Formats: sequence, structure tokens, C-alpha cells
Amino acid sequence: MIRLDKYLSNMTGESRSIIKSEIKKGNVIVNGSTVLKAENKIDEIKDEVIYKGESVAYSKYAYYMFNKPAGCVSATTDNTCKTVIDYLKNEQVSGLFPVGRLDKDTEGLLIITNDGELAHKLLSPKKHVAKKYYARIKGNLPTNVEKRFEDGLDIGDEKKTLPARIEVLQNAKTTESTDKLTGKTDNMTGNTDNITDVVISDRSDALPDEGPALFDSEVYVVITEGRYHQVKRMFKAVGCEVTYLERKSMGGLELDDTLRRGEYRKLTAEEINTLLNTLI
Ligand code: URA
Repeated sequence: MIRLDKYLSNMTGESRSIIKSEIKKGNVIVNGSTVLKAENKIDEIKDEVIYKGESVAYSKYAYYMFNKPAGCVSATTDNTCKTVIDYLKNEQVSGLFPVGRLDKDTEGLLIITNDGELAHKLLSPKKHVAKKYYARIKGNLPTNVEKRFEDGLDIGDEKKTLPARIEVLQNAKTTESTDKLTGKTDNMTGNTDNITDVVISDRSDALPDEGPALFDSEVYVVITEGRYHQVKRMFKAVGCEVTYLERKSMGGLELDDTLRRGEYRKLTAEEINTLLNTLI
């Protein structure tokens, strides 16, 4: 048995306060009768619950979207670092795990669930689930970077990488050596004498919460594999260094930009369907 408001919050991903107000408004029916008390207990397997006119079926699985901060490890336990599970407050965490791994310094979208089958499919090399990253790259990009990523790269594994798509947001072209770019302070004070052809991003939506790198290039990159340090190694293969990496989407599921680093929320039914549909 479980409290009605907790059950509905678990199943719909809505907050307990929203659910309580909907219950008060008479928008919840259990076994044919309107229930006005959030604390009423229901049998989640046998009882039929209708929420705002729609039947809410019981699922033993939980799905969360987590905005991973740097410094957090994609594991369930760790002796020294905070894990993704340490960020889940007041949740039934037993059985939950992150779907795949992001490096300790990578931020952004991580799915957390107890649904092993879904996780297995999302990570299966056969499914080619697309993962989109925002990356900042030290200095400028090689001119043919899009084609090289599209053609596949030798990153030291047995096989080349599968075609990956790059969208260049800003290429921090410089006609002078990168050393000259220590004119960063000059730029801050408005004196650009030292600096030529430097493009500074104005895409505030693409910028992470913090971090320096006024003179980095910025790209979106979409890969369909999940090799170890893959994005960083792909850029290394074209002579570049990734200075910041953030996952923006996975299998059609987009990172909710209202979630701050370290915050999470339940996936909505629609988002779970989006994930399932990308696996068909
Ligand atoms: N590629 C990387 O290099 N690191 C990540 O965390 C994810 C993809």
C-alpha cells in the first residue's frame, strides 16, 4: 500500500504539491470514486487510478533526468567522490543506477533508472543511440573538422569511429600564436590591440554555468557510439583539446535547461515514450 499523492507523483513525474492540489480539486478517481485526501492509501497493483481523466498504470520502474555536475562520478558508490546517487534526495534509491558513464569532469544529461532492459538497449552498440554534446575546444579547429568527423577517425581502437556530426558554433580563429591570447586581460578591459580575429561566442544559451575559456572554439557534436572518452579522443585525433564537455541529449531526450547542475527530476511519460521510440 502507498499514499495516493506519492503514487501519483512517482508515476507521473509531477511534484507532490501539484498532485495534492489536483486531488483537492477532485481530479483523482480511485476505483470509480473521487478521492479528496492525499494521504489515502491505495494498492498500487490492484487499484484503478484516474488522474485528470487518464488512467495511471502502475510501473515498478523509475526514470530520472539528472544534470550531472563536474566532480560527480557516474557510479552508485565511491570511496572519495560524490556519486550520482548521492544527489537523489528522498528517493527510493535501491536498484537505481546511471545509464552509462560520463567522465568525472563532463556535465549534463544522465539518465538514472532501475530499468535494466531500457538501459541495456540505450547502451547497446547495435542501437546506435545518438548522443549530442556541447564541447569547448582549446584554440581553433582544423578547417576540415566536419568532414574528418563524418569520415570516422582512428582514435587508437581496432575500428575507426562511426560517422559523427559536428556543428561549429564558434571557431576561435586566431592569426597570431595562442600565446598572444594571454591578452585575455586586455580584452576584458576593452583593449584589443593584441588580439586579431578572435571570435567570442555570444551564445549564452550554450555556455555552461561557469568556466573561463574566452578563446575556445565551441561545437555541438553528435556521436552514435559510447566508447571510453570518445569525444575527447576524437578531438585529440584531429589535434585538438576538449576543455569543457556537456551532454545535451540522448536518444531524443533533451536535457531540461531549467535543471541546474546537480538537480534532477522524474522523466514524464512522454519523455519515457520518446526514449522507447528511439529504440524501435
Ligand atoms: N566523451 C568523452 O570524452 N567524455 C564523456 O564524458 C562523454 C563522451
